[in-house]
Amino acid sequence: MMRLFCVYIFALSTAVHATTNLTSLVNLFIGTASGANGGSGGNAFPGAAIPHAMVKVGIDVDEAPRQAGYISDNSSVTGISLMHDEGTGGNTDGGYGIFPLFPLMDCAFSSCPVGLSARETQRAAGTDAASPGYFTTTFVNGIKTETTSTRRAGLIRFSYPATANSTYVVVDLTHDLQRSFEGGTVSLNASTGRVTLTGTFLQSYGVENYTVHACYDFLAPPSQNEQSLVTAGLFESSPSSSTTITVSTNLTSLSFPYTTSPTTTQAGALLSFNSTNGSVLTRFGVSFISPDQACANAEEEIPGWNWNAVQSASRSKWEDVLSRVMIDVAKENATIVELLYSSVCFGPSESYRRKPVLVFSVSILRCFFSGQCSWDTFRTVHPLLSLTSPREWADIVNAYIDGWRFTGYIPECRANTKHGYVQGGSDGMPILGDFAVKYADFAKELGVPTDDLYQALVDTAENTPGDWYFDGRQNTAWTMFGYIPTDWTDPSGATGLPTREASRTEEYSLGDFAVRQAAKVLNKGQAAIDLYGNRSMGFTLVWDPTVTSDGFSGFAQRRFPNGSFAYSPPDACSPVDPTPHSCARGTDNNVGFYESSSWEMSFFAPHSMSTVVDLMGGPSTFVSRVDTYFSKGYYTAGNEPSFAMPWAYHYANRPDLSALRVRNIVFNNFGTGIGGIPGNDDSGAMAALLTFHLLGLYPVVSTRQFLIGSPFVSSYTLTNDLFGKSTHVTVEGFDPATITATPANGTALFVKEIKINGIRSDTICWVTFDDLTSGKDIVITVDSNATAAAARGCGEGPNALPSSLETGGF
Ligand SMILES: *[C@@H]1O[C@H](CO)[C@@H](O)[C@H](O)[C@H]1NC(C)=O
Ligand SMILES: *[C@@H]1O[C@H](CO)[C@@H](O)[C@H](O)[C@H]1NC(C)=O
Ligand SMILES: *[C@@H]1O[C@H](CO)[C@@H](O)[C@H](O)[C@H]1NC(C)=O
Ligand SMILES: *[C@@H]1O[C@H](CO)[C@@H](O)[C@H](O)[C@H]1NC(C)=O
Ligand SMILES: *[C@@H]1O[C@H](CO)[C@@H](O)[C@H](O)[C@H]1NC(C)=O
Ligand SMILES: *[C@@H]1O[C@H](CO)[C@@H](O)[C@H](O)[C@H]1NC(C)=O
Ligand SMILES: *[C@@H]1O[C@H](CO)[C@@H](O)[C@H](O)[C@H]1NC(C)=O
Ligand SMILES: *[C@@H]1O[C@H](CO)[C@@H](O)[C@H](O)[C@H]1NC(C)=O
Ligand SMILES: *[C@@H]1O[C@H](CO)[C@@H](O)[C@H](O)[C@H]1NC(C)=O
Ligand SMILES: *[C@@H]1O[C@H](CO)[C@@H](O)[C@H](O)[C@H]1NC(C)=O
Ligand SMILES: *[C@@H]1O[C@H](CO)[C@@H](O)[C@H](O)[C@H]1NC(C)=O
Ligand SMILES: *[C@@H]1O[C@H](CO)[C@@H](O)[C@H](O)[C@H]1NC(C)=O
Repeated sequence: MMRLFCVYIFALSTAVHATTNLTSLVNLFIGTASGANGGSGGNAFPGAAIPHAMVKVGIDVDEAPRQAGYISDNSSVTGISLMHDEGTGGNTDGGYGIFPLFPLMDCAFSSCPVGLSARETQRAAGTDAASPGYFTTTFVNGIKTETTSTRRAGLIRFSYPATANSTYVVVDLTHDLQRSFEGGTVSLNASTGRVTLTGTFLQSYGVENYTVHACYDFLAPPSQNEQSLVTAGLFESSPSSSTTITVSTNLTSLSFPYTTSPTTTQAGALLSFNSTNGSVLTRFGVSFISPDQACANAEEEIPGWNWNAVQSASRSKWEDVLSRVMIDVAKENATIVELLYSSVCFGPSESYRRKPVLVFSVSILRCFFSGQCSWDTFRTVHPLLSLTSPREWADIVNAYIDGWRFTGYIPECRANTKHGYVQGGSDGMPILGDFAVKYADFAKELGVPTDDLYQALVDTAENTPGDWYFDGRQNTAWTMFGYIPTDWTDPSGATGLPTREASRTEEYSLGDFAVRQAAKVLNKGQAAIDLYGNRSMGFTLVWDPTVTSDGFSGFAQRRFPNGSFAYSPPDACSPVDPTPHSCARGTDNNVGFYESSSWEMSFFAPHSMSTVVDLMGGPSTFVSRVDTYFSKGYYTAGNEPSFAMPWAYHYANRPDLSALRVRNIVFNNFGTGIGGIPGNDDSGAMAALLTFHLLGLYPVVSTRQFLIGSPFVSSYTLTNDLFGKSTHVTVEGFDPATITATPANGTALFVKEIKINGIRSDTICWVTFDDLTSGKDIVITVDSNATAAAARGCGEGPNALPSSLETGGF
């Protein structure tokens, strides 16, 4: 009976697929609450963007923290700007926010309030609205703003109240979100209605500056909007620090030479319009190459200025991305539907580009502009792309390889086209390893050169850059000791922040595992496989068995060059640390871990969890240690080192406990409100994590294995368009009563059996990449008997437990 019922669901979801309107389910305002004290709001960007776009056009507010420009509150708007970061931490004033526009009315040309603080305005309550590809808000003075966009261009429309006796648009050269203008140019051609801009600003994560260009066109074709330019001029504060601003119609260009520190100069263009229907339509393009290229991008991508065409094309692109994870929207719990589609949507919204630059033979890296940061994204964003979006992922992987071509190292973090800080290991390594193990056989078709990919991995694993704080790793220490020693001066002269020794050891171990995996799948020989396999066990060398905490013994610690350990309390830097410690990047870090505690990072060896279980004293001690980790408050839902922890029980043969924990974590930390993301979305890291939790999956990066558990939906379909296959996952016996933080005893939460294409799997704890991408039919049977689930563990098969390297896995 049940089986037939499920077949019926498949038929239904296929029918739904044909007429999807999944974009209407996306709530772009999740994660837009302000973070307290500059802390971890979601920093999500709710403006207009297409997937993987360079342009993210939306409003900016005056109050920090505002990493993505936007905040859901009543703070004043300073402009509508063209590019933004999504979900990142970094500078609390934000990233990008370049060349904002601002609409003004009812002023005289020479005395309009063009300056930043003079012009800022609140939004009328309740007027912010957005859907994928579109954003709108209305100011308290009645001016409505709308935005939509393509990859490198977009349209902005201001609609003025009928009572306005004059209508203006300000183009601001100097105010990026960080107020970090270091020089640039604004040029106006009143006869063509074109304003071009070039500016140099500071990156949002790191110490470098970057130069970016934009092109605004203000003479819309009459078929799209009947508007004419009445007066146009340029403005400038003088003296530069003054709030006194002079507007002049005589000038066609203003240039500000490069200065080494940001200036307070205010400058830009002011244009007044006569519009028959009270609206002004603007087209823009952006470029890292030149102002002319910015104009060419706009002309190429939006030749006809057709708003509806641009918006519906953007919507279709999102519809395509969203439909790669299909559920029966009418049948599933509405909260889960909203959470899932709002997360799938954020997930792949990274900003990478490569191909257009080749055309103009400018540094390829210029287009690798916003990959902050692999430490954040390797765990969930890339594995999600691996399942559903191989073509887009291949572009990103190529951008990583390009990074190696230019610098000699796989990039860890790119912010605004320049390298940012390396947070831990060089975590582009597990991303390239992941691509190799999943797509080596299709690399040619995807345009990824695997020899280069492998060389990038090896160079990053072996060579030490002059300053490993910005690129690569401290391989001098790593290859000499097998761990990163504390209090050691590198005789080679290579420098970098010497902190985070224990967690860097753990991440370097995973990085070397990624090389081992690539060596294996790319047939690089047994010697390489063994070398990197052995080095990937380096994390065991920072294990101090004598350290105890909460009744458990054995914790990861810093270690001196002579082999003795440097003690820090295992709870140091955890959310419940009784004394202040720092686990930041800087020299104040006095625990040896990055953004985490020893309590937490002692669990970190995704490729070798059986060793962790052993080091901790075996499965039952491991289970109570994970329980204690949660009950004592060492877990931080909003930060990456905590991501995998709800799934840790799988490695101790207790998937039933993972099922309970994942439900608990999701409902206690995520939601559909503006505060619905527990930490920075981090370029989609948090959203991709939620997607995996809801689907009952967790990726083991740089392997073809995914942990599997109890989904939050009764069925789903994953589509991989490279393979042209849709994989159906059905939960037989799905129990809606489990859709809660603490499923009651007797509800059908526990995975009992997994059948793949009708064949019973030997394990109920993991499936392979192949299972999830090759069009199979996966049936997960759940039941409610907790006692039986505990006894069943991962199942009877000899490989029922998820794999570990040193026990013969991978
Ligand atoms: C999608 O749904 C929204 C909201 O229900 C609706 O306004 C819109 O017209 C729909 N679009 C399509 C293409 O069906
Ligand atoms: C903005 O909202 C805050 C918090 O809700 C409130 O205290 C404040 O009065 C509001 N300010 C304005 C100018 O509306
Ligand atoms: C335009 O409107 C403003 C504000 O209502 C008013 O002060 C100004 O006198 C008006 N100008 C003209 C030319 O009507
Ligand atoms: C404005 O653009 C037109 C058309 O390209 C060109 O002929 C004219 O010289 C430009 N004017 C200025 C001031 O650059
Ligand atoms: C900032 O930009 C200038 C001009 O492009 C360049 O000379 C300088 O090296 C840059 N500074 C940094 C720190 O990148
Ligand atoms: C008039 O303005 C509205 C926005 O308020 C816009 O949607 C429409 O396309 C405009 N129509 C014309 C003919 O300019
Ligand atoms: C603009 O040019 C006109 C005519 O040459 C001149 O009278 C006026 O003073 C100039 N204005 C400014 C602000 O430079
Ligand atoms: C604005 O446009 C209207 C209608 O085309 C025209 O009558 C009027 O003279 C224009 N005003 C200005 C200031 O250009
Ligand atoms: C370590 O290297 C040896 C060969 O020297 C090999 O047999 C063993 O499998 C390697 N261990 C790992 C974990 O890769
Ligand atoms: C969906 O799940 C949420 C969370 O448990 C619950 O509050 C809500 O009532 C459920 N909705 C329906 C329609 O059952
Ligand atoms: C769950 O129900 C079973 C069977 O009724 C009972 O034996 C068990 O003690 C219950 N467990 C909990 C945690 O309430
Ligand atoms: C649950 O499973 C246990 C162990 O297999 C069994 O003894 C018990 O009868 C089951 N309880 C129910 C309510 O089926």
